[in-house]
Amino acid sequence: MKIAILGTGAGARQHAARLSSLGHQVIIGTRDPKATSARTEPDMMGTEPFAVFHAAHPELTLVTFAEAADAGELVINGIDGANAVTALAGLPASVLAGKTLIDYAVPYVHQQPGGPEHSWPTPWGEMPHLDPVDTDSLAEQIQRALPETKVVKTFVTQEQETVVNPAEFGGGDHTMFLAGDHEDAKTDARELLSSYGWNDIIDAGPLAAARGLEMYAHFHTALGIALGTRFGVKIIR
Ligand SMILES: NC(=O)c1ccc[n+]([C@@H]2O[C@H](COP(=O)([O-])OP(=O)(O)OC[C@H]3O[C@@H](n4cnc5c(N)ncnc54)[C@H](OP(=O)(O)O)[C@@H]3O)[C@@H](O)[C@H]2O)c1
Repeated sequence: MKIAILGTGAGARQHAARLSSLGHQVIIGTRDPKATSARTEPDMMGTEPFAVFHAAHPELTLVTFAEAADAGELVINGIDGANAVTALAGLPASVLAGKTLIDYAVPYVHQQPGGPEHSWPTPWGEMPHLDPVDTDSLAEQIQRALPETKVVKTFVTQEQETVVNPAEFGGGDHTMFLAGDHEDAKTDARELLSSYGWNDIIDAGPLAAARGLEMYAHFHTALGIALGTRFGVKIIR
């Protein structure tokens, strides 16, 4: 299948490499392919320049967001949360119309001058806050911006390495969640998750449930700091 990944960050790279290894044709989208390929410095999280990753995966195609979305039969959104709605809404409507868009972005807003009202220092710096939160979600904002596209929220309750390979620990016996308003798109997401190795996938309901999945990011961070290791979540019922 032709799968487009909109984004060149660490999460996007995990999906690109895994999907390519599963035999898919992967097209990666970025704002400016030449500029992305020319970067030589790691990003603020220490992620190596895209060119280093691309050299190890020459089978991956790097094009603009619009070209990738147009080429993909299935599209994954990995544009950073604060810019995703603007970037996606700015694409020609036709390139995403009728398609399933799996969104894994978290609506983190990084610290503004003056700092947050309720500071949360972490080992890697000040924890960003979430916006939107509680009464709305990034996934719903994307769905409203792209009414002809079928948005599914998933992945966000796990580390990116574990998302693409749940068998990494616990024998893979942990739980993944998804939410969306379109049953056929949720089936697409479920099939992709199954191909990654997920056996326990819970449909959390309509896209409004993405509010909880996105807000869980804060608890996931707290648990990650407390445990000092990667972990999975298993729903016992
Ligand atoms: N388990 C999970 O579900 C999981 C794991 C990791 C991350 N995340 C979330 O997923 C999102 C992506 O994370 P990531 O680590 O893969 O990448 P990231 O570093 O957060 O974002 C990189 C992508 O965002 C694009 N971008 C940045 N500013 C932009 C702007 N002003 N306009 C348009 N595009 C812009 C970049 O474009 P260029 O390519 O042009 O630079 C790049 O493709 C984040 O919200 C993150 O919190 C979720």
